[in-house]
Amino acid sequence: MKVPFSPPHIDDKIIAEVVATLRSGWITTGPRTKLFEQKLAEYCGIQHVICVNSASAGLELALRWFGIGPGDEVIVPAYTYTASAEVVVHCGAKLVLVDVNDNLLIDPEQVRKAVTPRTKAIIPVDIVGLPCDYQQLYDIVNDATIKQQFQPANDIQRNLGRILVLSDAAHSLGAYYRGRHTGSVADISVFSFHAVKNLTTAEGGAICLNLPEPFLSEQIHKELKTLSLHGQSKDAFTKTKAGSWRYDVQTIGYKCNMTDVAAAMGLVELERYDEEILPVRKHIFDTYNQAFADDPRFRLPIYETEELQSSYHVFTLRVNGISEEQRDTIIMKMAENEVAANVHFIPLPMLTAYKELGFDIQEFPNAYRNYACEISLPVYHTLTDEMVAEVIHTLKKAVTEVLSL
Ligand SMILES: Cc1ncc(COP(=O)(O)O)c(C=O)c1O
Repeated sequence: MKVPFSPPHIDDKIIAEVVATLRSGWITTGPRTKLFEQKLAEYCGIQHVICVNSASAGLELALRWFGIGPGDEVIVPAYTYTASAEVVVHCGAKLVLVDVNDNLLIDPEQVRKAVTPRTKAIIPVDIVGLPCDYQQLYDIVNDATIKQQFQPANDIQRNLGRILVLSDAAHSLGAYYRGRHTGSVADISVFSFHAVKNLTTAEGGAICLNLPEPFLSEQIHKELKTLSLHGQSKDAFTKTKAGSWRYDVQTIGYKCNMTDVAAAMGLVELERYDEEILPVRKHIFDTYNQAFADDPRFRLPIYETEELQSSYHVFTLRVNGISEEQRDTIIMKMAENEVAANVHFIPLPMLTAYKELGFDIQEFPNAYRNYACEISLPVYHTLTDEMVAEVIHTLKKAVTEVLSL
């Protein structure tokens, strides 16, 4: 039985909405994007969301809005996808990588050690859908000594008066941290709707605003919306209204707006996300969990605790005591049986570009230890119980073979 890793969830309902959008005469940012922003804000329990064309663009826009630039430092976990870190480099700031804990989440103690007077932001990553320990991170940024050494360089930074917590929530739409949906926990959170994510718009992202007083969410929404579309005072939809042609460019902006074609997909998926999408993913997680729980060869990922509920994005199984090479062989053997597995993620210090920035994986032992024995198992809407059983069987067989070599 062939089991792909993560095909996008596209059904007739989505196709019909995309076709309706194409026929509507308005395909780029317009009414559907606006509605999607409102629905996402409602879903997360916040006032304002800005939709963009990727999470990468959303993270970078947030950093640039905050005024991150040369001389600043931004702390990012070593165990993540390159998108979480590259945005810091794009802004010309110094990337500071820190190690993760055994849940693959940024380790607050390492963050505390890495903070300097130049630290302007932390980008915790809700890896594979599990929210980070935001309370501990906020304890750090609100620590009196750390606040005192914070050096604001503009009015926005002065108003916040501390390090910004910018959550990379690319994986965690629908997850909960202490009873609150992600998107409403950090100062700013950014979701991804890339093709492999729980909810996809083919490409897309959303910036969720949750800044404390004196920030006005409505005003920041307007600023970021403008910044995402060339800094132009009116979007194309508004400009096409008769007599409304004149516009101004208020800031030198960027081009990363979401299209209505993308928003149409997002609207359909969000409407049924809690009732239809998440329960299927949870069922798959539970099935994997039960299948591996009594087998001492495996270490299971945490995905539900009293404080946390995952978005069930990717099931990150660890195989105890195996080497990186053995892990690769297991995945290869599974592939020979047409079952796709994956690794989330290769820690950044192991990748050429980050080595060239001076990072060395030896300084991130926990990231490496977890990466070396990690195997990501498929989780998606159309993955049937038979396919899940096939994944479990194929994996256990491959592990037995590799361990007996
Ligand atoms: C942890 C993480 N952050 C950010 C991104 C970037 O998302 P996007 O492709 O929407 O830019 C990804 C993409 O896979 C990711 O895995």
